[in-house]
Amino acid sequence: MDVAGKLIQNHELSREEYIDLLENWKNPETAKSLREAAVKLRKQYYGDKVYTRGLIEFTNYCKNNCYYCGIRRGNVHAERYRLSREEILDCCEKGYALGFRTFVLQGGEDPYYTDERMAEIIRSIRRAYPDCAITLSIGEKSYESYKLFKEAGANRYLLRHETASDELYQQLHPAEMLLSHRKQCLYDLKSLGYQVGAGFMVGSPGQKTEHLAEDLVFLKELQPQMVGIGPFIPHHETKFANEAAGSVELTLFLLSVIRILLPKALLPATTALGTMDPRGREKGLEAGANVVMPNLSPVKNRRQYDLYDNKICTGEEAAECRGCLERRVASVGYRLVAERGDALV
Ligand code: SAM
Ligand code: FES
Repeated sequence: MDVAGKLIQNHELSREEYIDLLENWKNPETAKSLREAAVKLRKQYYGDKVYTRGLIEFTNYCKNNCYYCGIRRGNVHAERYRLSREEILDCCEKGYALGFRTFVLQGGEDPYYTDERMAEIIRSIRRAYPDCAITLSIGEKSYESYKLFKEAGANRYLLRHETASDELYQQLHPAEMLLSHRKQCLYDLKSLGYQVGAGFMVGSPGQKTEHLAEDLVFLKELQPQMVGIGPFIPHHETKFANEAAGSVELTLFLLSVIRILLPKALLPATTALGTMDPRGREKGLEAGANVVMPNLSPVKNRRQYDLYDNKICTGEEAAECRGCLERRVASVGYRLVAERGDALV
């Protein structure tokens, strides 16, 4: 049996076997067999449902300097903004009326939002929307902070590991940022009972097949409930401005592999995928993804949450985004649902 067949049968491979598999990603037969197995699994667990998450990008201030990121602190040309608690609650109100039952609060690591301020925002959302899931995506914090946010009412946490290779991690981040700390955060979040999302960029500068193999080994070990992957896209104000973007095809191949590895995972068809290809998100759903994350941020701030060049959906109102995605999801035979969409355990 070849490695693709072995993955489909065992839902796991060794590092060397992943390398073997990934070296063949351009083989249309291999890609097709993985895609079919992935779609079969997603239908077995989720039918034709696609869950939707309302993304609220509430600050683009960040104390970190990740080399690939358009809102890193070193970008002096970024126009900074923060949303007040009232503005965040307004986004939730609009979102709730549109059928969103998960709110994702995402931002840079912004010291303005102290633990107490953050907890107060979470409590306000929890009080107003007891039936909704609250997802945080605000970077690396202490165990105590994560615990406080959980007690305030947060349910889920997205923290991409970015790459499971120390070597590549150091090429993408300044020396003060450590992969070991990021991984520790993910384990802390799991132990506190959060539904956890890890993930990585595909085609980040310097990424080799071996690095991707390490990502897959790490995902199997961590067993996250959610996995966010998307192509790396250069931003003109970073040192990677002239690097090539990641491949859409390889991202789709990896989505299928991850669906097989973690059959019940919640896998978004990301905005980065939609930025690289006008049908990127539809293709993501056809490769095994089962989540979309339309933007609920105020239109006046959307362009400022500028992680990479040419980011899509920066001009539309929340309702337009929702309608657009509903049509896109339906065009590939799936159904956008108004449910919390918790992980199946
Ligand atoms: N600060 C939080 C954190 O560190 O998890 C959340 C915000 S961060 C901007 C969200 C994700 O954006 C990162 O995990 C990274 O994978 C992605 N991202 C940043 N720059 C990118 C780029 N140039 N291309 C594609 N994705 C990028
Ligand atoms: Fe902090 Fe990108 S460097 S969000």
